[in-house]
Amino acid sequence: MAATPYTVFLAQPSTDAYDPSCQPAAQPRKAEIDPTFFDAMKVRHEVFILEQKVPLESEIDEDDPRSCHWVAYLTTDGDDETLPKKPVGTIRVVPYPQAPHPTPGAAYSIIDGAFVVKGHWVKKSDRSQAPDPGMPQSELDFIPAEEDSAAPSEEAERATSLHDGKEPYVKLGRIAVVKPARGTGLGAVLVQTTLDWIQANPTFFDEHDSQAAAATTTTKFNGLVCLHAQAYAMGFYTKLGFEVDEQMGTWWEEGMPHVGMFRRLDIQSV
Ligand SMILES: CC(C)(COP(=O)(O)OP(=O)(O)OC[C@H]1O[C@@H](n2cnc3c(N)ncnc32)[C@H](O)[C@@H]1OP(=O)(O)O)[C@@H](O)C(=O)NCCC(=O)NCCS
Repeated sequence: MAATPYTVFLAQPSTDAYDPSCQPAAQPRKAEIDPTFFDAMKVRHEVFILEQKVPLESEIDEDDPRSCHWVAYLTTDGDDETLPKKPVGTIRVVPYPQAPHPTPGAAYSIIDGAFVVKGHWVKKSDRSQAPDPGMPQSELDFIPAEEDSAAPSEEAERATSLHDGKEPYVKLGRIAVVKPARGTGLGAVLVQTTLDWIQANPTFFDEHDSQAAAATTTTKFNGLVCLHAQAYAMGFYTKLGFEVDEQMGTWWEEGMPHVGMFRRLDIQSV
């Protein structure tokens, strides 16, 4: 029987009833959580917490209630409609304004919902230099924050190769497909679904989010889309039209190297 993916859209869910210290199955106020958001968290738990070992408390964050989310389900011909459908993928779009770009080489952990710098990676060949995007860890040295007099700190936004440091952009994130469903085109469907939505709804966040509206009083949103890609997945996003921002560099989140990537959508002609 052929399995057909379909996606469900959810705009800016309330996350008040979601307890960050509990896995989805143990949520004490489950009945109050939007079912689509609950399904997104089920996928995120399976992929990021159980598979990639991200700390449980880090998974839900303050961007979730501001974001639009999609959850992918698979339906099979002949499915019993009364049975619950299994969520197999998810993605979110975070509106502007965004936090400043991460510092190249920095290694972050999320503690109590905040990014904390644990140290930074430098090139073995020249310890004054941050790593190039996607550089293997074998070519790098790690300097723990306590041994580093010039530890990277939170900065104001800076200009990079593909971003002038000022223009508002949306950010794709929490992209996940459960392991058994990978390699079937589902991840690409999720990314393309969000890109099509952004292109068709370029003023959505200005109309539904006061922070976003305030961020675009001087410069309007012009279709710029960013994502922070785990380095191993760069090729996946390149196939979807994203380009690595060389000057954003490489940084580590919970031990996983990340790079910044951008794509500009043409929203003028919509
Ligand atoms: C990254 C992820 C979402 C990809 O989902 P997927 O459903 O397996 O991807 P698709 O089947 O849609 O792949 C689309 C194309 O990208 C390619 N691709 C997929 N993963 C890739 C990777 N890691 N590197 C390079 N290319 C990749 C596929 O081969 C396919 O190419 P094709 O169009 O030429 O056939 C999935 O691997 C995942 O959930 N990983 C764990 C969570 C994660 O790391 N999320 C990303 C955080 S940045």
